[in-house]
Amino acid sequence: MRKKVTVIGAGNVGANCALRIAEKELADVVVVDIVEGVPQGKALDLLQSGPVQGYDVMLTGANDYEPTANSDIVVITAGLPRKPGMSRDDLLMANYEVVKTATEQAVKYSPNAMLVLVTNPLDAMCQTAYWVSKFSKNRVMGMAGILDTARFRTFIAQELQVSAQNVTALVLGGHGDTMVPLVRLASVSGIPLTELLDQATIDRLVDRARNGGAEIVKYLKTGSAYYAPSAATVEMVESILKDQKKVLPCAVYLEGEYGIRDLFVGVPVKLGALGVEKVYEIKLTDDELAALHKSAKAVQELVDILKRKM
Ligand code: NAI
Ligand code: 2OP
Repeated sequence: MRKKVTVIGAGNVGANCALRIAEKELADVVVVDIVEGVPQGKALDLLQSGPVQGYDVMLTGANDYEPTANSDIVVITAGLPRKPGMSRDDLLMANYEVVKTATEQAVKYSPNAMLVLVTNPLDAMCQTAYWVSKFSKNRVMGMAGILDTARFRTFIAQELQVSAQNVTALVLGGHGDTMVPLVRLASVSGIPLTELLDQATIDRLVDRARNGGAEIVKYLKTGSAYYAPSAATVEMVESILKDQKKVLPCAVYLEGEYGIRDLFVGVPVKLGALGVEKVYEIKLTDDELAALHKSAKAVQELVDILKRKM
């Protein structure tokens, strides 16, 4: 039997997740949205790409959750995106209500699913889904670090005029202005970045990666990025469904790792059939650890606002 993935939110990120899942033939996809007709129309359009693109999975759209029953993975992209001048945190209360409802409904029909969160502010939305679902911590995770790392890798590759495939990097922390690109661990085919670029150039690239989301919002004006975000999300979905055990930076629930407790923050993890199968606690310098704690504090502030509301 084919695997089943539900994508909640048929907007830019959600629709592109559905497309990428179909093109990779990872699973049948159910797309859910509150706007009547939109998930149905987009799913039908995606289904009709199948004969041309050569994929053979079922895509359906719905405004309710019954068709999502027994999904292996539920990807939550529902909610408002940023507009120019807004931070991800400005979305907190509106998207909290959306993610709360979506999680309640999704887990009612798919009690054994993994939850992959995309909605912003990402780390606080992971916390919301974790509270509401009452799932074990290995089954709730958020996409951000893969995207932030992909942006950093892209800018490094552009600067050096090399293939981005050869660039490895790691961005930790919350998905916000305080994210932590680990320059010390960035390399090009094993050559440390610090041997290839001077500090001023590296600082410029780090800054651009940190503001990579806002740069796109400024261009688009009416919303935020979705091609790279959907690619990053589907990398997580694929690693779980195929039990690939990829090591990827994801937002996961920490219980003391890196000195962070009871909070979702981006760190390197192994993703496989059991979801988050391992959290890698790598040795950080004092400065890196301080930056990670500063980032965690920014996430904690949002979570505290949510706790006061509950
Ligand atoms: P979008 O506006 O294109 O799509 C959002 C969709 O959610 C809309 O179709 C809307 O009707 C739907 N929706 C709203 N409330 C709903 C509900 N209660 N139930 C079901 N559907 C509902 O926005 P886009 O660009 O797809 O972004 C979605 C979210 O993902 C935003 O919060 C955005 O900030 C976030 N995002 C996060 C990234 C990350 O790295 N974690 C990257 C890119 C986007
Ligand atoms: C991004 O980084 C909006 O969080 C989204 O593009």
